[in-house]
Amino acid sequence: MICLGIEGTAHTIGIGIVVKENGKCRVLANVSRMYKPEKGGIHPREAANHHVKQFPYILKESIEKSGVAIEEIDVIAFSIGPGLGPCLRTAATAARSLALLLKKPIVGVNHCIAHLEIGRALTKCSDPVLLYVSGGNTQVIAFMAGRYRVFGETLDIGIGNCLDKFGREAGMPFPAGPIIEKKAKEGKKYIPLPYSVKGMDVAFSGILTAAIHMLKKENIEDICYSLQETCFSMLTEITERAMAHTEKEEVLLGGGVACNKRLQEMVRIMAEERGAKFFCPPNEFLVDNGAMIAWTGLLMYESGMEMMMEETKVRQNFRTDEVEVKWR
Ligand code: ATP
Ligand code: FE2
Repeated sequence: MICLGIEGTAHTIGIGIVVKENGKCRVLANVSRMYKPEKGGIHPREAANHHVKQFPYILKESIEKSGVAIEEIDVIAFSIGPGLGPCLRTAATAARSLALLLKKPIVGVNHCIAHLEIGRALTKCSDPVLLYVSGGNTQVIAFMAGRYRVFGETLDIGIGNCLDKFGREAGMPFPAGPIIEKKAKEGKKYIPLPYSVKGMDVAFSGILTAAIHMLKKENIEDICYSLQETCFSMLTEITERAMAHTEKEEVLLGGGVACNKRLQEMVRIMAEERGAKFFCPPNEFLVDNGAMIAWTGLLMYESGMEMMMEETKVRQNFRTDEVEVKWR
């Protein structure tokens, strides 16, 4: 079974082509283009225009790389939500057109669940707690009683958004996460920032304001270091709490911020200290990508979750626990 998946919830438009062979996921192609605003934050309609322009190129490139003929594709999958309306509609329109043109079934995939499924497919974990950390999303997710449930999440902005906004104030280009990581390595002094864990949840806007405030009086390396240490400790704490509650013994990372080596280290140490296992797929599958949509779509289709065209309307606020998981 071969599935072509289209990702388009936010900055990235991506196409992945995957095949299921002996029960395992093999990625045949995974091609992405990221929209980078020249200044300021993401403008949803500009991002959508970027996706429209890039789509024909990444379609051609992904088919060529995959080595399969377009007629050999069995299913078309796309990110149905959550995400930015104009971006979601672009990916959905492309998916519907392909499905109609090729006369293939279509499935809409929950983006957050796709991060978890690609991690399960490409690492050796089977039933992990996922720490999903990206620009717009920050969630701790695990499978329980037939659904993926959110055990903890941000009460305001996503961690990536916090890093990018701080970076913007400090004059860094988008995305600021990797630049902050580099600068943090040079940091020597820890400057206390408001540590904000509320039960299983976290909040970042207070820390962001405090860190921006410090730009006037402290050096940038120390602020980056302190910002990372504070935010990542919070994330590690709520992940550990979810592992304790659910009694799960595996932790998996997902989302662009999980490319950060310091965050990986903190979560790995936490896991080791509780006798649990740590998993993290390669960066290409941490950031938003088409392969994760393709693989999850394939699993959904196999379990009978094909959609009628009328059911493919995008869902901007699609919640992780709304999906009845029939493939596990
Ligand atoms: P989503 O729709 O899932 O919220 P997104 O558009 O934010 O997705 P991702 O590719 O998952 O896309 O993540 C991008 C984010 O990851 C940006 O905020 C970026 O700053 C951050 N990021 C990337 N690399 C690093 C890094 N090394 N350290 C910290 N943050 C990073
Ligand atoms: Fe994502």
